[in-house]
Amino acid sequence: MSSTQRTAILTGATSDRGIGLATARRFAREGWGVVVLDLDGEKSAKVAQDIANEFNVPAFGHQIDVADEASVSAAEKAVAAEVATGHLPQVGAVANIAGITSPVPFLETDLALWNKVMAVNATGTYLVTKAFLPAMIEAGWGRIVNMSSVSAQRGGGVFGRVPYSSAKAAILGFTKALAREVAPTGVTVNAITPGAVDTNIRVGSTDEQEAAIARDIPVGRTATTEEIAAVITWLSSEDASYLTGTTVDINGGSHIH
Ligand SMILES: NC(=O)c1ccc[n+]([C@@H]2O[C@H](COP(=O)([O-])OP(=O)(O)OC[C@H]3O[C@@H](n4cnc5c(N)ncnc54)[C@H](O)[C@@H]3O)[C@@H](O)[C@H]2O)c1
Repeated sequence: MSSTQRTAILTGATSDRGIGLATARRFAREGWGVVVLDLDGEKSAKVAQDIANEFNVPAFGHQIDVADEASVSAAEKAVAAEVATGHLPQVGAVANIAGITSPVPFLETDLALWNKVMAVNATGTYLVTKAFLPAMIEAGWGRIVNMSSVSAQRGGGVFGRVPYSSAKAAILGFTKALAREVAPTGVTVNAITPGAVDTNIRVGSTDEQEAAIARDIPVGRTATTEEIAAVITWLSSEDASYLTGTTVDINGGSHIH
């Protein structure tokens, strides 16, 4: 079955310079149907429409708060209705990209920040995966790609302090355990651990902080969103059939282990 007969679900895919939008466009360029899920429903619908127009693929946008079970369930039902009426091909991939950071020193964090960062990054990955996995198991084929971070592996810098690094590390454990459990079903589950990527999530950093980050990267620059999108779509391809439970580092050599 070619990807034109499959739909990729993406969370966190409307941010102008974000990894999610670049990945949605890359899936579309490769012929996938695309579902854009983000906090702002109107913006999600607009981004989906723009993608449909540009790439001539079926696309659908819907509101989601990945940390809220009812919201995730509503989004899943809306997608299932689009599939049932033939507006979208069957679900073949889920890219859990939505995330927020915690750029606060540990002793300045509070429980509310900890809970929020865990909820969006880790619980969101759990809820969205749980909602869309049954359709892929039923189809006997599926790809789940979870967004972790180099912060999970080496501790965070300015953006990846304790709550964020902890949540992104939880995603690695989630990925490995689920990969083993669903391997016989034809669904693969992998994680990626990008280093610094130039997106809006970094807004607020000083030039000095950015220069220090770039100095720490052997290739001498941060990643482009397209470089991350290319790995997510490849992990979602037929070619990646024997990778599951894997963590793919995309960090320009900044963390080699
Ligand atoms: N930029 C980096 O340096 C970097 C490095 C490693 C990992 N990441 C991860 O990549 C992912 C994408 O980040 P980005 O850099 O493109 O940032 P971004 O801020 O541009 O995009 C994040 C997206 O997630 C959405 N989002 C936030 N909370 C949400 C919620 N509760 N429900 C649904 N959507 C929600 C936002 O609206 C936005 O569209 C994040 O998980 C981030 O942690 C980023």
